[in-house]
Amino acid sequence: MITPVEGFSKLSKDEKIDWIAKNYTHDTAETIRTIKRYWNSDEKLQKLHDEFIENTLTNYYLPLGIAPNFLINDKLYAIPMAIEESSVVAAASKAAKFWLHKGGFKTTVLNTEKIGQVHFVYKGDKEKLQKYFDLIKPKLLSDTLAITKNMEKRGGGITNIELRDKTKKLDDYYQLHCTFETMDAMGANFINSCLEQFAQTFKTEAKGFSSFSDEEKNIEIVMSILSNYVPNCLVRAEVSCPISELNVSETLSSEAFAEKMVRAVEIAKIEPHRAVTHNKGIMNGIDAVVLATGNDFRAVEAGVHAYAAKDGHYTSLTHAHVKNGVFTFWIEIPLALGTVGGLTSLHPLVKLALEILGKPSAKDLMQIVAVAGLAQNFAAVRSLVTTGIQEGHMKMHLLNILNQLEATASEKEALIEHFKKNTVTHSAVVAAFDAIRK
Ligand code: MEV
Repeated sequence: MITPVEGFSKLSKDEKIDWIAKNYTHDTAETIRTIKRYWNSDEKLQKLHDEFIENTLTNYYLPLGIAPNFLINDKLYAIPMAIEESSVVAAASKAAKFWLHKGGFKTTVLNTEKIGQVHFVYKGDKEKLQKYFDLIKPKLLSDTLAITKNMEKRGGGITNIELRDKTKKLDDYYQLHCTFETMDAMGANFINSCLEQFAQTFKTEAKGFSSFSDEEKNIEIVMSILSNYVPNCLVRAEVSCPISELNVSETLSSEAFAEKMVRAVEIAKIEPHRAVTHNKGIMNGIDAVVLATGNDFRAVEAGVHAYAAKDGHYTSLTHAHVKNGVFTFWIEIPLALGTVGGLTSLHPLVKLALEILGKPSAKDLMQIVAVAGLAQNFAAVRSLVTTGIQEGHMKMHLLNILNQLEATASEKEALIEHFKKNTVTHSAVVAAFDAIRK
């Protein structure tokens, strides 16, 4: 029987590996071998990775691929993508190539506001609270000067603090709703440090506010934390071309294709089951670039899906229409990203990804990431409304199946050739593989 472990984080790396291997796996020696195979022989690099988190045993690889030929606002990008799903990079590259000679992607950053909140409980007279807030607001700002100094030098800082009354939804619940400009940083640490300082000042100074009763002086801070819902940190990316240039399929006219694309987006707008999958396809592109550039994909995911539900029902993040013979396809999406701080200067591959992207500012990266999402969605919906998704998907998955079957290099070559003309299904690949082996 496995017993709880005490002080696991204090064990050495080898002790941790032994413990997990012995207690949770069948073959201790094999587990240790597997874990150590993924260690980097460069000890300094390994130590860097070990120290990113607690209790590191080894590295978890994801492929880092490149989707070239992205023309964004007339500049050509090769976009690094970290992702395990076989068809994503291929689909992005295909969409990039498709739009390359049709004007490429046009993007605009609509705004860059970040949000944080101090959530607190106050039992007392609302007007007095408002008076206290108005009085104390300059001190809230001046008490954070040590934190904001560097950010202000870079052009950012705290942009506003508002008192919000939330008592209609929850008894005695109020917020300091704060907005920030964090320039090229994602800004989580900066925002949270400011918020914790606001909270401390707000609570402490209340004790000396003479209009408050003793109960009113006792403001209870519940928590201070940034919000990953950033509907005013918004970027738009768009592609468009005359319908006649769409020309994607031998069996479908350009007009019919454009109409089907628009219809597919309309379905995703009104049908949440489809919208979730439609948006998942968008996130295939977005997450892959967010990960490759060392950004927080959980924050992006949470914020994006909240935005997709902002009008009370979950809907498509992309839009499409045909007007005056022109097909337009676009996305508007909140993205809080950073190109300084965090992993950006620590992880060698993140540094490289940012170099490949031309050392983008956070605003540049917002635009690149939005494009990756739009391109991915275009590629997915294009396949869905023409050939169906499985053709391309299974072609890309073929190598995974062949690797599972432990096919040799020459077997792979023969089978890849064979499946250029035949439909890839798992059973068809196994049958063809067995036939070759015999
Ligand atoms: C698969 O990872 C993503 C798709 O399901 C997206 C979509 O359905 O639009 C193909």
